[in-house]
Amino acid sequence: MNNKYELIYEGKAKKVFSHDDKDKVLIEFKDDATAFNALKKAQFEGKGRLNCLISARIFELLKKNNIPTHFLELKNEHTMIAQKIKVIPLEIVIRNTAYGSLCKQTTIKPGTLLSKPLLDIYLKNDELNDPLITKDRIALMNIVSSCDLDLIIDLTLKINVILKSFFKSIQLKLVDFKLEFGYDFENKILLCDEISPDNCRLWDLNQKNGTIVSLDKDRFRNDLGGLIEAYSEINRRINDFI
Ligand code: TMP
Repeated sequence: MNNKYELIYEGKAKKVFSHDDKDKVLIEFKDDATAFNALKKAQFEGKGRLNCLISARIFELLKKNNIPTHFLELKNEHTMIAQKIKVIPLEIVIRNTAYGSLCKQTTIKPGTLLSKPLLDIYLKNDELNDPLITKDRIALMNIVSSCDLDLIIDLTLKINVILKSFFKSIQLKLVDFKLEFGYDFENKILLCDEISPDNCRLWDLNQKNGTIVSLDKDRFRNDLGGLIEAYSEINRRINDFI
């Protein structure tokens, strides 16, 4: 990134830089992949670009459906211009089908279709390993008001309806995903972070006899190989559809 922009924050998968407008930031998507709270790390050439392009398309789709997001426009294929926000330290996970940690922590079998979406909230804190958290603990720590938490939950459920239907139309099953929210300069709640195969589980519906084919970061988490091919396929299907 041009060094006139100051690095404000570096996360595991993205760097955030200042922008000429003080209310905006530049978000650069990295090729780094991490799993299990960065115990496992690798680099995949082209992942940053794919996640940036996929996220931009999804944010545009959500905007059209009246979901407030931080996304403004693409600066280039691996950098987006976004509203500057104060991130709320919560990770909101929606699960439509049981998989991943839900199956490790309960007796529910992988692949079980849930009769209604399950919403799990985690504290965004790497030192504590992002623990599952309750509404009462959120109130105890004064993270957000209960009214704002209700708004975040309501937005997440609406986003799930939009994304489930969108991904189904491109032959992908939205198993689960993780969202983050923040406050803009007017204290308005916006969806932030990214929506990509890094934070969504997407299974290919073009498979016969229900074989699970993950087109998401599980390819890295579970050493399946073919991560860039999977992300490219998602990007291709989105571009062919929109
Ligand atoms: P989990 O089954 O590991 O709890 O993951 C649920 C969803 O959340 C899955 O789509 C991956 C996503 N996720 C993240 O985006 N970041 C994380 O740190 C974790 C643990 C999960």
